Amino acid sequence: MAEEAVLGFLEKHGEISDSGEFASERGIDHQELTNIIKSLHGFRLVDAQDIKRERWVLTEEGKTYAAAGSPEVLVFLAIPPEGISPVELQSKIDPSVFKIGRSQAIKNQWVEMGKQLVTRKVSNVQDKVQDLLIRVQNEQGIDPKEIDALKRRKLIVPQTWKGYSVRKGPNYAPKRKKFATDLTRDNLQRGDWKDLEFKEYNFSAKGQPIEGGHLHPLLKVRQQFKMIFLQMGFEEMPTNNFVESSFWNFDALFQPQQHPARDSHDTFFLQVPSMTKTLPEDYVEKVKRIHESGGYGSRGHEYDWKREEANKNLLRTHTTAVSSRMLYMLAQNGFAPKKYFSIDRVFRNEAVDRTHLAEFHQIEGLVCDRGLTLGDLIGVFYDFFTRLGMSKLKFKPAYNPYTEPSMEIFGYHEGLKKWVEIGNSGMFRPEMLLPMGLPEDVRVIAWGLSLERPTMILYGIDNIRDLFGHKVDLGLIKKNPLCRLGIE
Ligand code: PHE
Repeated sequence: MAEEAVLGFLEKHGEISDSGEFASERGIDHQELTNIIKSLHGFRLVDAQDIKRERWVLTEEGKTYAAAGSPEVLVFLAIPPEGISPVELQSKIDPSVFKIGRSQAIKNQWVEMGKQLVTRKVSNVQDKVQDLLIRVQNEQGIDPKEIDALKRRKLIVPQTWKGYSVRKGPNYAPKRKKFATDLTRDNLQRGDWKDLEFKEYNFSAKGQPIEGGHLHPLLKVRQQFKMIFLQMGFEEMPTNNFVESSFWNFDALFQPQQHPARDSHDTFFLQVPSMTKTLPEDYVEKVKRIHESGGYGSRGHEYDWKREEANKNLLRTHTTAVSSRMLYMLAQNGFAPKKYFSIDRVFRNEAVDRTHLAEFHQIEGLVCDRGLTLGDLIGVFYDFFTRLGMSKLKFKPAYNPYTEPSMEIFGYHEGLKKWVEIGNSGMFRPEMLLPMGLPEDVRVIAWGLSLERPTMILYGIDNIRDLFGHKVDLGLIKKNPLCRLGIE
């Protein structure tokens, strides 16, 4: 084996001065030897120094001459001693060979090119060019002047040859040791671990590609949002019910029953079971009253509130349905200040396009405490969105049936270098909070945003179908990078 030959030679002689010679003397392929030297060098069994040599190799043209003879000799040989007409001579030889051979033969003063007759000027010639080319081919030395001539005729070109000189390295041994890669139970029981030599860790090696358990980008971004809420002291709301009654999704939020969002064009209603079974009756009564005739200083919506409408089951259109349940429960159990959040799926009967699907994920946050103001809402946003990497915010008045005032939130995206809409927010109306039984001075500030939008921006996805649904490329999910929000 070549590896043993190298190590054995070093043992005896201390040095291999030229890997090229070493290979040709032993009939080893030089490329193979080079690989072995590199590997031994890597493990520091040997020290290898580069050696470079310029050598000459034949061009394709040079190779033909070496095999068949130079054109000038071919032309010379085609001329019989008595001479030949130029036309006949030309017909005997390949045109390209003739052209080169004729001019070289004239230059060498081998032939006389008469108009009528071509004759030899010498009786015989030697093919020096062919001889030289064969010497180059066999890596035998030739005169630099000759090299120059062959180079000018483009019959040879220089080529850099790379090889090594090799000496013993710091870990030299006449035979390569097999390093252990694992410490096994057997090693421990036999006690041979004491003599084992372990392979060193290669900290710059790439790890094995991970084959299973890839998180979808939405899950990664969701986790980041969750961490931000938890760091800010928010508690997660239970959102594990996609089906909700119209009551909690709309009525409890003081959204009138004729509101266009409650139309089947905007909302998916359930056929089975189409109606909710239970609602807290005395609270339903209060909600009915606030819609029909108002109270707490409000005129209400002044219409006939229908129980059947409130009973209709639907796929929740926002997680604010969960917020309304949570606030109601809080009022029942004795109010205490709370910070709640949720991140879960909602459904809307919408036209599907590049940025909209009929289902998406909503991030919802709310803070309830006595005497909160719009200033608190804005302050919480600066805290929340700065943690996402957006510290420049703008607010625009907006409308929600259940908040007053309401604001759209815009953030300056440092990566996109533009303002993007990032959420909707407001302070829940007294018409929503007071029927629940919350103390009069309790204010609730709340906001909602989609999970898809920041995810698409973060991952540079411009078509939502590439992010969610049956067209998603699984390979992409495997390759998706880690997610970190808030790097500025
Ligand atoms: N529910 C709103 C939406 O669907 C978001 C929101 C939540 C707005 C809380 C105000 C307060 O867009």
